Amino acid sequence: MEQRPIIAFDFASKQEIEKFLTHFPLDEKLFVKIGMELFYQEGPAIVKFLRLQGHDIFLDLKLHDIPNTVQKAMRGIAKMGVKITNVHAAGGIEMMQAAKQGLIEGTKENQNVPELIAVTQLTSTSEGQMHEDQLISVSLEESVLHYAKCTEKAGLNGVVCSAHEVKKIHEATNNDFICLTPGIRPQGASVGDQKRVMTPEKARKIGSNYIVVGRPITQAEDPYQSYLQIKKEWNGEA
Ligand code: C5P
Repeated sequence: MEQRPIIAFDFASKQEIEKFLTHFPLDEKLFVKIGMELFYQEGPAIVKFLRLQGHDIFLDLKLHDIPNTVQKAMRGIAKMGVKITNVHAAGGIEMMQAAKQGLIEGTKENQNVPELIAVTQLTSTSEGQMHEDQLISVSLEESVLHYAKCTEKAGLNGVVCSAHEVKKIHEATNNDFICLTPGIRPQGASVGDQKRVMTPEKARKIGSNYIVVGRPITQAEDPYQSYLQIKKEWNGEA
């Protein structure tokens, strides 16, 4: 089946989303990422609005709190009918297990439990910052792999990671473990503030399971054509 790139909806309001969607045919069902800036402006209504139009949602809220609180929050997230959501692996195995349990409890009958993935080390964290701020003395790579293994142990579906980390994470985890990778840029596209990017084609070849693409689509002159081109590359049809 054809895989869709997940479009990062880094918009400030519902109006901006509506304007962006006018570029797409009504029957083009998208997979979109809603992050905390949009969610905290528009709330669950924005998820409902997009779901009613047939789009699939990755709700990127990166939960990190005590297990009981995360479990209850995840019940609510599951009720929204999202496809993917996430937590911080730094919250620990018990918190991740509670998150998963909350999703199971909140999922309506006849619906699939959302896939649950974990953020390991944020890609905005440098090795130096990790040593100093978190007092973690191993290398950044070791820390990422450790968190990936904790995530697997907790029974989650996978991690958010840089495409450059995918190979090592796949080697260290079971075959079903998912790597979802942002920082994707088609050949020749502006890199923006991303430091280590990869093309959709290369990401597929090295084993990314989902790619997240924002500005190359949302800021494109023709967002629909840009989306189709990236989708083609991601599916190895370009
Ligand atoms: O516009 P761009 O393609 O760079 O957007 C990438 C999206 O993925 C943004 O929403 C960004 O916050 C998110 N992201 C990322 N790197 C991570 C985690 C999330 O770029 N490590």
